[in-house]
Amino acid sequence: MKKKELTSTVYEYPSRQELTSQQSQLIDEARKAASTAYAPYSNFFVGAAVRLENQQIVHASNQENSAFPSGLCAERTAVFYANARYPQTPVIALAIAANNGEEPIKKPFPPCGACLQVLLESERRYQTPIEIILFGSEKIIVAENVEQFLPHGFTEVNLRDSDQ
Ligand code: THU
Repeated sequence: MKKKELTSTVYEYPSRQELTSQQSQLIDEARKAASTAYAPYSNFFVGAAVRLENQQIVHASNQENSAFPSGLCAERTAVFYANARYPQTPVIALAIAANNGEEPIKKPFPPCGACLQVLLESERRYQTPIEIILFGSEKIIVAENVEQFLPHGFTEVNLRDSDQ
């Protein structure tokens, strides 16, 4: 038996003060994008903004459905749209923000497992890390790449059953 430990590093900020202007801008764009959410069932309005390598920003939001599993999170909507519309241009950063219809949420939350899996695929596909920026009005969390949240993710190497 061999114990294998993977570490995960995230950076927590009490406010935007120490963020770069690019990080702060992406948060603003994610907050704006939350206003396009269709979330009549959860009232959890999520906005995502992705920055492409050419600095272009793509916005998206969660889109719910009366058949609940048919809806899609803001992050997957954003990444699938960005990769479909601009397949030659890697995503380099993603910010997410949410509100309950009245005020922004206080505590940041990570993308769900399915979104992390999709983000990980995009990172591998373009061999470009995606910086993750999670906004809460009382705390902001930044990670340098998706792997910080999904260290044991399934990737293409697992399909080939090769040594990792
Ligand atoms: N949601 C997102 O858009 N992103 C997340 O990371 C977590 C959850 C959405 C899905 C659903 O529309 C609502 O938030 C409640 O789960």
